[in-house]
Amino acid sequence: MASNESEFGFYTRKEKANMQPELTEFKKVDDVFAITFIIPTFETVGFCSFRVQSNSIEILVFHIHKEFRKSGYGSQCCKELIEKLKDMYPRLRRVTLYADPMAIGFWEKQGFKIVKYDIDGSAFMKMRLGS
Ligand SMILES: CC(C)(COP(=O)(O)OP(=O)(O)OC[C@H]1O[C@@H](n2cnc3c(N)ncnc32)[C@H](O)[C@@H]1OP(=O)(O)O)[C@@H](O)C(=O)NCCC(=O)NCCS
Repeated sequence: MASNESEFGFYTRKEKANMQPELTEFKKVDDVFAITFIIPTFETVGFCSFRVQSNSIEILVFHIHKEFRKSGYGSQCCKELIEKLKDMYPRLRRVTLYADPMAIGFWEKQGFKIVKYDIDGSAFMKMRLGS
């Protein structure tokens, strides 16, 4: 193990970064769904909650655990989530969210566009799906 790699169990951080995260079963409370992202070591790398409204989905919370950030998990989890949602909701046309000012760049890299800024610097963002 290289000296700059931290170790989690029997796998290095680098090895874990190559593990594909999977989505757990969706839990529903009222109109909000919650899921977690896990890797084959059974560790939770992050979680997300969202609300389905007609042909759009609003992401309410999207969080990657500190230990797993900057390893590509945010991108992978976002991609898998959106693919899964497209399968589940064929009429889905857009995904929206309010991005924390510190996370706007991350969402832009996932393909979201800024619709408008709020006074606190957060941004309402949107990703169009399909044609
Ligand atoms: C924002 C967050 C989800 C990013 O997760 P992550 O696993 O670190 O992201 P990734 O490693 O997949 O990064 C993907 C790309 O986005 C970039 N990126 C990551 N976080 C970023 C940020 N805060 N601002 C700008 N770019 C960012 C990375 O550099 C990377 O770019 P690259 O593809 O050119 O290499 C994570 O930091 C987090 O959970 N933060 C706390 C909660 C939060 O802010 N959630 C969003 C609320 S709207």
